[in-house]
Amino acid sequence: MQETLRFITCGSVDDGKSTLIGRLLWESKQVFEDHAAALKRDSARYGTQGDQVDLALLVDGLQAEREQKITIDVAYRFFATTRRRFIVADTPGHEQYTRNMATGASTSDLAVLVVNASKGLLTQTHRHARIVAMLGIRHIVMAVNKMDLAGWDEAVFSRIVEEFQPTARELGFQSYRPIPVSALEGDNVTGRIAKPSSSWYKGPTLLEVLEEIDVSTGSDNMAFRMPVQWVNRAAPEFRGYCGRVASGHVKAGDRVRIVPGGMESNVRSIIAWQSERSQASTGDSITLCLEDEIDISRGSVIVAASDPIPLSDQIEAKIICLSEHCLVSGRSYLFNLHTCQAVATITAIKYRVDVKQGEHLAARSLNMNDIGVVNLSLDRAVPFEPYETCRRLGSFILVDRLTNETVGAGMIDFALRRAANIHWQALDIDKSARARQKLQKPTCLWLTGLSSSGKSTIANLLEKRLFAAGKHTYILDGDNIRHGLNRDLGFTEADRVENIRRVTEVAKLLVDAGLIVIVAFISPYRAERDLARSRFEAGEFYEIFVDAPLEECERRDRKGLYAKARRGELRNFTGIDSEYEPPESPDLHLSTMAESAEECVQRVLHLLEEKVDANILRK
Ligand code: ADX
Repeated sequence: MQETLRFITCGSVDDGKSTLIGRLLWESKQVFEDHAAALKRDSARYGTQGDQVDLALLVDGLQAEREQKITIDVAYRFFATTRRRFIVADTPGHEQYTRNMATGASTSDLAVLVVNASKGLLTQTHRHARIVAMLGIRHIVMAVNKMDLAGWDEAVFSRIVEEFQPTARELGFQSYRPIPVSALEGDNVTGRIAKPSSSWYKGPTLLEVLEEIDVSTGSDNMAFRMPVQWVNRAAPEFRGYCGRVASGHVKAGDRVRIVPGGMESNVRSIIAWQSERSQASTGDSITLCLEDEIDISRGSVIVAASDPIPLSDQIEAKIICLSEHCLVSGRSYLFNLHTCQAVATITAIKYRVDVKQGEHLAARSLNMNDIGVVNLSLDRAVPFEPYETCRRLGSFILVDRLTNETVGAGMIDFALRRAANIHWQALDIDKSARARQKLQKPTCLWLTGLSSSGKSTIANLLEKRLFAAGKHTYILDGDNIRHGLNRDLGFTEADRVENIRRVTEVAKLLVDAGLIVIVAFISPYRAERDLARSRFEAGEFYEIFVDAPLEECERRDRKGLYAKARRGELRNFTGIDSEYEPPESPDLHLSTMAESAEECVQRVLHLLEEKVDANILRK
């Protein structure tokens, strides 16, 4: 049995979690005298328990929390009894703090779900149970708290326990242990108060359960896996691979394989804390030295040669949205999985999970706190294990590429076979052959700007100039493409992201065909314009900002759409009730207020002469 039990407490606001942990700390004598004195002082000042010591204040450590009388961050506490050590993550119960809960749960083996006896099960209770189940927690203790307020009524307790039974079963918890408690009075937390009203409960106290429960996952019996954190070259002849063993054992002489790459070698030595040791197991931080010189970098995984790890660039995963900005299909994010990083694009949102009932709901985007199942396409194959098999090799975060905000936490379900089955067909006639035939350098000129800013006018005039000079061109215009290829898309954020993803791919094909492609789409989001650029080779893609103030675009309003949007007849209209993110460093910035269409086109041609082809207008 593990010496240390890591657990999380969760529940809704006012369920009394902090008081419960406070009592565990208090009664396991983990509170120092000076701390106890401060607690008495604070109880008088901020407490909610009248003259009594308010144990919640032990846990609600932050000043801001005290002033608001709520818990707002994950607080990790340590306590110990003669039988076990405990690390407890106390997480807030407010709707918007799911991200903290997910953080606390990801390193825990057990969850204490606190329920207020007088309120019963709430949506939050189901939500938290579902999140902890998703994060791989297999053991749940339900502390039905405030039983004193419910008059220690056995029927109240039984009703809550039974009501939760189907959820516990559906979520596949290995154990579900309900306990009636009063954190305030201390009953059934660490000991029992002998009184007739609660004598019907004959089971163990909360602390007894926490001391006895076996939460071992068997990861020690699994095959050896260690993601490489860094390569230590302390001396010219020394090369050691540092990391933490994610599963299994390793000993000197073992045959190992490096993924990706597939090279094999034998373990020469294992170093931990500056001394050699004969073997290491799950959770140990070590440096491995191999018998052969192999080029291994951060992000690779060293595994038992007899039992390699999957490698894929297409995966299905569960995701919790942690950001106020929704996650949308088609958008790409930085993907951090154990020690390796890639770029991931959400290729499909398969469904959103209803947190209360577990139903699958159709979704085009995931909002803050939503949990969904998605397909991800990565820019390279990464080594992983399904989260269910190994948490450390199956959990990842998604990070916004522009703001660096962590926007999602995910758990890999499995690899989609597609990655292995679809290969790029090498064809004999390639882009450069087609370009030579056309006597031009294939290029993508990407015009972005508000509706009526002048994109189509400039694109049209520009194409006429290039055509007259014998160039092979094509215009992809937002309005036109939305009549065909993209006729199924509207103007929500998710649809616009998909709109731009598709036109990017079409533009890339046309550039591959040897053409000079002019794209004229509003393309309001920086992230997608950056993604578009990243799909082209260096020197092939030029972002041109067709800039005009909103008032000027409204004045032009050839299609009468701004007027409609102002009247509220058209929703999500760019510049009115949908955002336009202007380019921060475009290759060219045209101002159609100050310059005529002709002047703008001259400046684009100049850019082409300078950057692409000095003789572009010569036949
Ligand atoms: S984008 O934002 O997804 O890049 P796109 O360039 O394809 O937009 O389409 C913009 C054109 O659709 C506009 O020029 C306008 O004629 C029309 N349109 C209709 N509804 C909207 C809307 N809600 N927002 C912006 N343009 C709209």
